[in-house]
Amino acid sequence: MTDEGAGLVIRDLTVAYGRKRVVHSISLGPLPRGEVLALLGPNAAGKSTLLRGIAGLGSASGKILLDGTDLARLSRAERAKRIAYMPQSQPPAIGLPVIEAVMSACSGMLGRETAMKEAYDALARLSAVDLAMSPLAELSGGQRQMVALAQAIVRRPEVLLLDEPTSALDLKHQIHVMECAAALARESGTIVVAVLHDVPLALRYANSVAVLKDGDLKVHGAADEIITPELLAEVYGIEVRVERCSLGRIQIMVDGTLSQ
Ligand SMILES: Nc1ncnc2c1ncn2[C@@H]1O[C@H](COP(=O)(O)OP(=O)(O)O)[C@@H](O)[C@H]1O
Ligand SMILES: [Mg+2]
Repeated sequence: MTDEGAGLVIRDLTVAYGRKRVVHSISLGPLPRGEVLALLGPNAAGKSTLLRGIAGLGSASGKILLDGTDLARLSRAERAKRIAYMPQSQPPAIGLPVIEAVMSACSGMLGRETAMKEAYDALARLSAVDLAMSPLAELSGGQRQMVALAQAIVRRPEVLLLDEPTSALDLKHQIHVMECAAALARESGTIVVAVLHDVPLALRYANSVAVLKDGDLKVHGAADEIITPELLAEVYGIEVRVERCSLGRIQIMVDGTLSQ
């Protein structure tokens, strides 16, 4: 342990593809255990690249600390055990039944029976047990996204990185997934970092919001404090009103785009 204390701390993280730097020296955190961070930003802002950097994929410099432990000091297997990453692309449509696909994401240390129980638990959390025996190849895009999420949560990670986990889902399943992520955070102290495009969904479920543009972190803070028409105009180039509905939740009304 160091004096950084509990949670996830990202310090001066730069992530590149070859010589092309895409994420520029981002510092973020500490993100406390049990909290959800929503990562927002326009297309090509570097959101996926930042997640890959936290997951330890690709070429990155800087430091990532989890409860004071420098993740670079962990073996690949140890890091993968503590941090689960659900990429933006979905699992390939192979003939394997869903339950087997989720079991295959479990640690190899588990016996088959325990792995099967864990896989059913993960599907149950997502209200997706009915998919268990279906071949992956016969699922819709949204159903495959649920399976990818089950594969990420089945390992009970300490940090859960979700890249656009709701992009293929209908409204009910979007809420399901975000409630599942928030419940995991609350109950297990998991730190969830989720890339989302739906700003109201992010505001509803995230404890804090980080906004990226052109590979830089524009702002990180409580949604109430940072989501303003000025910020959304600057980052997304849109003209919006930010208002509260009768339930007190922040709503975004888009009035148009701004020429840039
Ligand atoms: N494999 C890659 N090789 C080179 N450049 C890439 C690669 N993947 C993404 N990029 C570039 O990095 C930038 C950020 O991409 P990405 O992190 O995917 O953005 P976002 O997830 O915010 O839409 C984009 O300009 C994109 O073209
Ligand atoms: Mg992306």
